[in-house]
Amino acid sequence: MIPLLHFFRRSTNLLIILFIISMMLIVIILHLFFSSSLQEPSTYFENVKTQYDNVWKNLLPSSSLSSSSNTSIIPFEESEESPNSQAALWDYSNDDQDKIEDIFQRLSTPLYPEIPSYSSMNMTYRKQLEKDTLAKNGKIYNDFMSTPIIEPKVDYLIRPDDELAGSANATILSLVTNNDLKELLPSIQQLEEKFNKKFGYPYVFLNDGEFSEEFKDTIINMLPNGRVVKFGQIEKEDWDMPDTIDRERYKIECEKMDKLKVSYVKKESYHNMCRFYSRKFYHHPLLQEYKYTWRLEPGTSLYCDVDYDVFKFMEMENKVYGYVLNLYDGANSIPTLWETTMEFVKKNPNYLNPNGAFDWLKENAQKPENFETAKGYSTCHFWTNFEITNLDFLRSEAYEKYMDHLENSNGFYYERWGDAPVRSIALALFLDKSRIHWFRDIAYNHNPYTNCPKCPEGSMRCDGRCKPGLFTMWKDLNIENCQATWIDKIMSDEEKNLY
Ligand SMILES: *[C@@H]1O[C@H](CO)[C@@H](O)[C@H](O)[C@H]1NC(C)=O
Ligand SMILES: *[C@@H]1O[C@H](CO)[C@@H](O)[C@H](O)[C@H]1NC(C)=O
Ligand SMILES: *[C@@H]1O[C@H](CO)[C@@H](O)[C@H](O)[C@H]1NC(C)=O
Repeated sequence: MIPLLHFFRRSTNLLIILFIISMMLIVIILHLFFSSSLQEPSTYFENVKTQYDNVWKNLLPSSSLSSSSNTSIIPFEESEESPNSQAALWDYSNDDQDKIEDIFQRLSTPLYPEIPSYSSMNMTYRKQLEKDTLAKNGKIYNDFMSTPIIEPKVDYLIRPDDELAGSANATILSLVTNNDLKELLPSIQQLEEKFNKKFGYPYVFLNDGEFSEEFKDTIINMLPNGRVVKFGQIEKEDWDMPDTIDRERYKIECEKMDKLKVSYVKKESYHNMCRFYSRKFYHHPLLQEYKYTWRLEPGTSLYCDVDYDVFKFMEMENKVYGYVLNLYDGANSIPTLWETTMEFVKKNPNYLNPNGAFDWLKENAQKPENFETAKGYSTCHFWTNFEITNLDFLRSEAYEKYMDHLENSNGFYYERWGDAPVRSIALALFLDKSRIHWFRDIAYNHNPYTNCPKCPEGSMRCDGRCKPGLFTMWKDLNIENCQATWIDKIMSDEEKNLY
């Protein structure tokens, strides 16, 4: 004991010890803080960034799978209902009049007609409704997510060693600028690690400006030798605000929306991006030659291995669209989108699919204020920062004409229509709902939301960086989750049991 006391008597030593103890305390407090659900978003982002930086420093996959897109083999006959054929749409006859009326009836009625309009509800009712709906929908979501899953149980999944692996007509797509490089690299790294090093799909990077040599070199160097990587620039006329927009009015409308807290509304490039991702990207020369894209956004994470070729899954299962998260939108960014859409389908009822995901569009219990502001649209939408898309659907007559109609109504600028609600409405109206697939097995994060599947006991598929079933770290954001309606009202039993 005596030497130890001597040690402490030296004031410098005591200071050092105190310093070490206080550092340990800080670490412990920080740790507790981060593991609580109340953490501040900004601190969280810092934490995630550090984590990304560490991931990024790790060695990149060195295996050099060749990008052999062996497209000469077509294993399964193209389905008759191939999405690029107009047969996917409804060619109605006069006998279908009742059906059309029925569809319009559904499109004009709230899913829960007994719930009054938001503005006519008193506070007590609003609070009770929110509480009841969250309890009900939270249970649906939690119950569903509590089943351990691995991957879709279909007859055929193409494995990495299959000769068809990597043979789909598909590419990874990322729309970025040079400044996104640092956030993009970990996203690519994780996509490679979890999926693409096994399948070798090419990449297409698009930019409204010019990619720097540094950007291109860094990406090429991080990918295996021989991987196909293409860099393209977007034509000004496809990106810039068109001349038909009155700049004065645009400014005034944006000021108004800014007061209503519409995010990014004053960033012109954000409007451009939404418009480009809605209606132009699939015509870019570098994408013309592809049928499927997997959209990759900087700053996103993947947490579980995907051991089958998801593009071949889309092809063989005749899926048109794959998503992981589905949410409510900010209704003030799209006050007239639904009305404008209804104008379009009234003129073109033959594009409506009698088996569309209408209930999801008309849900009015969880965020009745959104339903009211968007004038009859739930604002539920697929979060398009992850999307696996059959571009032939976007190139179809129905989608293209719908886009022209939206373009002519100027809502990409006088409002701030996102590509997510626009795309989602088109999918839900024009497609049979069974052709939209929720990739429950793809564990994905884009802050502040996560799709995190539960794994069977002992499975090593996931790396433990996400908590099974946790949609968001911030409790008050759970209300933004639309999945319960999708599970409850849209998915067939077959789809529920697919995993
Ligand atoms: C590509 O397909 C041909 C048959 O059409 C086959 O002979 C060849 O081995 C395949 N190449 C690869 C890399 O799988
Ligand atoms: C609120 O509205 C509900 C249903 O419309 C009604 O039953 C209730 O009495 C109202 N409460 C108050 C305090 O006005
Ligand atoms: C890939 O898909 C595009 C778009 O559907 C098509 O034009 C192209 O011919 C396809 N390529 C191959 C090799 O099948």
